[in-house]
Amino acid sequence: KPRLFSGMQPSADSLQIGNYIGALLQWKQMQVSHDAIFCVVDLHAITVAQDPRELREATRRTAAQYIAAGIDPELSTLFVQSHVPAHPQLAWVLNTLTGYGEAARMTQFKDKSARQGTDATTLGLFAYPTLMAADILLYGAQTVPVGEDQRQHVELTRDLATRFNSRFGETFVIPEAQIQKATAKVYDLQEPTNKMSKSASTDKGVIWLLDEPAKSAKKIKSATTDSDGEVRFDVASKPGVSNLLTIYSVLSGRTVASIETEYAGRGYGDFKTGLSEVVVETFAPIRARTLELLDDPAELDRILARGADKAAAIADATLATVYDRVGFLPRA
Ligand code: TYM
Repeated sequence: KPRLFSGMQPSADSLQIGNYIGALLQWKQMQVSHDAIFCVVDLHAITVAQDPRELREATRRTAAQYIAAGIDPELSTLFVQSHVPAHPQLAWVLNTLTGYGEAARMTQFKDKSARQGTDATTLGLFAYPTLMAADILLYGAQTVPVGEDQRQHVELTRDLATRFNSRFGETFVIPEAQIQKATAKVYDLQEPTNKMSKSASTDKGVIWLLDEPAKSAKKIKSATTDSDGEVRFDVASKPGVSNLLTIYSVLSGRTVASIETEYAGRGYGDFKTGLSEVVVETFAPIRARTLELLDDPAELDRILARGADKAAAIADATLATVYDRVGFLPRA
């Protein structure tokens, strides 16, 4: 089976449905045909300030949501990044192969650092993409399923792998991003030209996986649409309605065309009610299962420990090869 790697940052209260639609849903499907490894990337999370207690809790909550959304820890490897020290160890080596200008061109870094100002921007944030490259390369992953916003980071990973291979000999598999066209980017409900994101300016634009059903329904009801009243997919002139159609289609497994036909001539009220039902049907069981898993943190921690053992076995072997190739003296 081809190897697959992907990860997500721990989120304090809940993941948002962009994470589910852009990533988790694909993960769940692909874990059957791939040797899949999924990580909760807590080392990445601390590139912006975190409250220690909340981070620990968020890491568990995120792992619980992976499982509740359908990641099977028997079938896939599920672990926490900080449990496998090879990640920052390889990242250090990759840092020494990465140009300053090359790292400074990463759009996520440019956006985040512009928002924070230079003094609050850390070296850790700057080095975020090389840690991500280490995540992927340690496992020899061929496939990296992500949303559109991670494409550039996977490109950098390919460049670094190629560079290492040509300098030190064939070592790394060159990975490929797998980005589902239709769901590459889920947009904010209030500002449907912005990506849905946990750092959105208003909570009303974001549906959280663990939102109570009534709350999600209310957010959908107040989602930005337009004044022409027609349920029709047209991203350029109807971004709000098109985003809702995408969400509807992906969650219900129906085509956009069949949804357009169902709501032809019926206006946005009915359409939003229909979408709310689909959202609640999808996420109510995930929410219930997450809360159940969080009731037994010891069991969850055992699952993550088993995952870390499996991951470390692969990662340590890759790191040993890398250390040898770059010329580190083996410890006697
Ligand atoms: P993160 O935690 O920001 O997001 C996790 C995944 O969710 C996708 N995503 C979206 N997809 C569609 N629409 C949206 N609005 C949306 N918001 C988020 C992201 O594209 C991502 O796939 N750097 C990564 C985590 C990471 C990683 C890795 C991923 C660390 N190491 C190695 C793959 C391989 C990140 O911050 O994702």
